[in-house]
Amino acid sequence: FKLPVPLNEPLKTFSPGSLERENLTSAIKELKASEKCVPVIINGERIFSGNISDQVIGGDHQKRICQFHEADETLTRRAIEEGLKAKKLWQRMPLEHRASVFLKAADLLTTKYRYQMMAATMLGQGKNIYQAEIDCITELADFWRFNCHFAEKIYEDQPLRNNVGNWNRVEYRPLDGFVAAISPFNFTAIGGNLCSAPALMGNSVVWKPSSAAVYSNYLVYKILEEAGLPPGVIQFLPGSPQPIVNEMLSHKALSGIHFTGSTFVFREIWKQVGNRIESYSSYPRLVGETGGKNLHFIHESADLLNAAANTIRSAFEYQGQKCSACSRLYVPDSVWPKFKQHLLTMHSSIKVGPVDGTVVKCFKIDFTNFCTNVINKQAFDKIKSYIDYARSSSEARIIAGGECNKFKLNQVGNDEKGYFIHPTIIETSDIHFKTMKEEIFGPVLTVFVYPAKEYEKYAEIAANSSEYALTAGIFASERSIIQNLEEKMLYASGNLYINDKSTGAIVGQQPFGGSKASGTNDKAGALMNLLRWTSARAIKENF
Ligand code: SER
Repeated sequence: FKLPVPLNEPLKTFSPGSLERENLTSAIKELKASEKCVPVIINGERIFSGNISDQVIGGDHQKRICQFHEADETLTRRAIEEGLKAKKLWQRMPLEHRASVFLKAADLLTTKYRYQMMAATMLGQGKNIYQAEIDCITELADFWRFNCHFAEKIYEDQPLRNNVGNWNRVEYRPLDGFVAAISPFNFTAIGGNLCSAPALMGNSVVWKPSSAAVYSNYLVYKILEEAGLPPGVIQFLPGSPQPIVNEMLSHKALSGIHFTGSTFVFREIWKQVGNRIESYSSYPRLVGETGGKNLHFIHESADLLNAAANTIRSAFEYQGQKCSACSRLYVPDSVWPKFKQHLLTMHSSIKVGPVDGTVVKCFKIDFTNFCTNVINKQAFDKIKSYIDYARSSSEARIIAGGECNKFKLNQVGNDEKGYFIHPTIIETSDIHFKTMKEEIFGPVLTVFVYPAKEYEKYAEIAANSSEYALTAGIFASERSIIQNLEEKMLYASGNLYINDKSTGAIVGQQPFGGSKASGTNDKAGALMNLLRWTSARAIKENF
């Protein structure tokens, strides 16, 4: 038999007045109306630890989306030990049975839970309809379905030669221990993938979701459970990172870490693993997707309207809180006046607003009601400090946006309370300006205008001046220029886009991940990633 060949989950239109729009509006209302309480889950058992935190609604931060019970060291240890017991049966289940759990989960997600999940991601993580849908519905369903397909390919890969008198085979075992999954707030799908990919390959996973995405991630867990995931295969441990992650890293059965988050935290984890390397029973596999300082490089031959629209989308969709978001832009002086005009015109039609119903689907070049809040106060303060820095510098000036107002929405003019930052464009005369180098993780784009005739020199600087290498976009129309830029950008990113924005990788189409300080480049939603969760055994048998 063969597992089904996956297709990308299609998007819905959510046009006003449509049934899907009504369903979504009801789900948002329902979510706002009732108080939710999220437990720690070990072996399917709901544990109310009594150590309670809030996940607030960032666009209206006096309100919360849920309360959640936090795990501590003791619960983490229990989750690991119990998970290792659950693994014994799970790893012996053939792929088709393990895969059927994730295939069913994808179907449940895209039917029964579609609106509930979107509401949770919209309110909890501050996404508009379109941004929520491409994350928690289509990308997550794609991860679950395509991973099954890639797993099948891995198991199919067997030795080519046997001799008379013996035969050879390779068994793709799960890792000997447990995998720690540590996921970020910005994509529900990333949490869903970080816990599921190792589980699909037969591992037991202890999952710590971000405290700013607990509710949507809890729904992910519940869907997997309803789809038949045996208790204990994935343990769900919300809570503060320190005690949970420390406990995971101190356990001798730690066999892998599946991480998405900041470069700083991943490096700290790596150091701790290194310091304790002799205490583990194997070398833990460290798989991380971390920070970015992604660039768009415009050549004077580019279609300027296309380049500007893609730059606005990449820099400001989801308020720049994608690790792939464009945050540095290089434009030749010969086209800058025209290009700037395009940017400013598009920027002026961007509206910033709350997520519940008023923020319409944004597709193609439609920037109305386009941006919502940034995730929390910490993010707000950090992003604002960069904007303030640029405002007070003689080497930079703010050419669009720049207002940060915690309590008033800039353009929709009501008095909702939330962490809103107006998408901001900074122009700098210093190619190494602070906002050209440091990851801001917010709606801030910095532009450097270079001498058009020296595009090769500046492409090289753009390619090599960052410690990060996640995504890049190059914009040009002449083939030889495209080839040249592609070569110059060889190690500038793990995902390169030609005449397209640096965001929005699709599972099964553009395997996603970066190198250098951006991660181990093990490519989410790809065979390469799943291979990391197996430890192959070659078996030779003589007859
Ligand atoms: N995969 C997302 C993108 O490509 C970022 O995590 O935008």
